[in-house]
Amino acid sequence: MHENYSFAVLTMSDKGSRGEREDTSGQYLQEKLAEEGYRLQSYKVIPDNQQIIIDSLIRLVDDEKIALIVTTGGTGVSPSDITPEAMASVIEREIPGMAEAMRSASLLKTSRAMLSRGKVGIRKESLIINLPGSLKAVKENLAVVLPVIPHALEKIRGGEGDCGVV
Ligand code: MTE
Repeated sequence: MHENYSFAVLTMSDKGSRGEREDTSGQYLQEKLAEEGYRLQSYKVIPDNQQIIIDSLIRLVDDEKIALIVTTGGTGVSPSDITPEAMASVIEREIPGMAEAMRSASLLKTSRAMLSRGKVGIRKESLIINLPGSLKAVKENLAVVLPVIPHALEKIRGGEGDCGVV
């Protein structure tokens, strides 16, 4: 279990932030990651506003020192989708393979998966993962990276865990 690792869920949704849409994706992430043994430390629904996303992510990392931050929404190609642009100014190191793995696995479910521009990256000792917005996409994408997250978190902290085991 991973109770030593805290997690945050950050939902990007203009409608959600105005209380006009139930955040089923954010709720699922809270439940699923808690079930996996991570410790919920923060949950917020914020609008698709680049500066608000940047400020929120930086606060979760620099002030709250949360190990795992999972975002949902705003990764696509509509004019309001701005999550990847915000990520670009927050992360210090990108992990393209995790995002690519999610996209390629998702392509087996829907060709629309290629429209998600979500990133995965590291700031300080925090791992930040962008997922698309729909509940279906969240479930399918999270399942791809979930088995790798503990090893990533350990390595980000300079852990000496064996890379050749699985
Ligand atoms: N990935 C999976 N696995 N399953 C999905 O249903 N939906 C796609 C894509 N990725 C989807 C998916 C769709 S329709 C879009 S528009 C993009 O994610 C971006 O979603 P977002 O703008 O809500 O972040």
